[in-house]
Amino acid sequence: MKFYIDSAIISEITEIANWGILSGVTTNPTLIAQAGQNFKETIIKICEIAKGPVSAEVTAENYQEMIEQGKEFANWHELVVVKLPCNINGLKACRYLSSQGIPTNLTLCFSVNQALLCARAGAKYVSPFIGRLEDINENGLNLIESIREVFTVHSLKTEIIAASIRTPQHITESARLGANIATIPYKLFANLIKHPLTDSGIDKFMQDWKNRNN
Ligand code: G3P
Repeated sequence: MKFYIDSAIISEITEIANWGILSGVTTNPTLIAQAGQNFKETIIKICEIAKGPVSAEVTAENYQEMIEQGKEFANWHELVVVKLPCNINGLKACRYLSSQGIPTNLTLCFSVNQALLCARAGAKYVSPFIGRLEDINENGLNLIESIREVFTVHSLKTEIIAASIRTPQHITESARLGANIATIPYKLFANLIKHPLTDSGIDKFMQDWKNRNN
């Protein structure tokens, strides 16, 4: 499973890119608004830092305008992936943009049927939201598992981006269940590498090294 960061904040993306484990970035209108910078400039800058696919989400609601926005975003940088909603207009725009060779990420996916339709519309990526399903007392990880099963049974190449990730367990389980990618908020990355036994082990090694007699 690859790691993407779910952020539009340049300092956060730069930090995780510097760890050497970053494969891409996802943004959404909320994250772009929080970052407080110009949308186009932000996406181009992120592409330069990430050196991998960067999802930029349309804000239009009808599919003709989604297509226009998608074509515009794709012109900004070769790494841009056009993010579209999992609804009828999103499917139509996905089919058109995919036929033009523009990669798409279908977002706000909450069911296997939605994921299957996205794959058939030519989506390069589909993003099931784990945390938001748990918010309404449904099992988000079961959705990852079911989509993986259906995509494998039917040899569908659309990649699964586990999204709306809230805990380290979501990441471990997404990897076990066969998500291709997890898109992770910045603050969770530190939790993934940190372990108290690693830290105490390093302290002991350093102490013994300083106290050596040879
Ligand atoms: O990748 C989707 C993500 O941005 C949504 O996360 O925590 O707002 O449900 P959240």
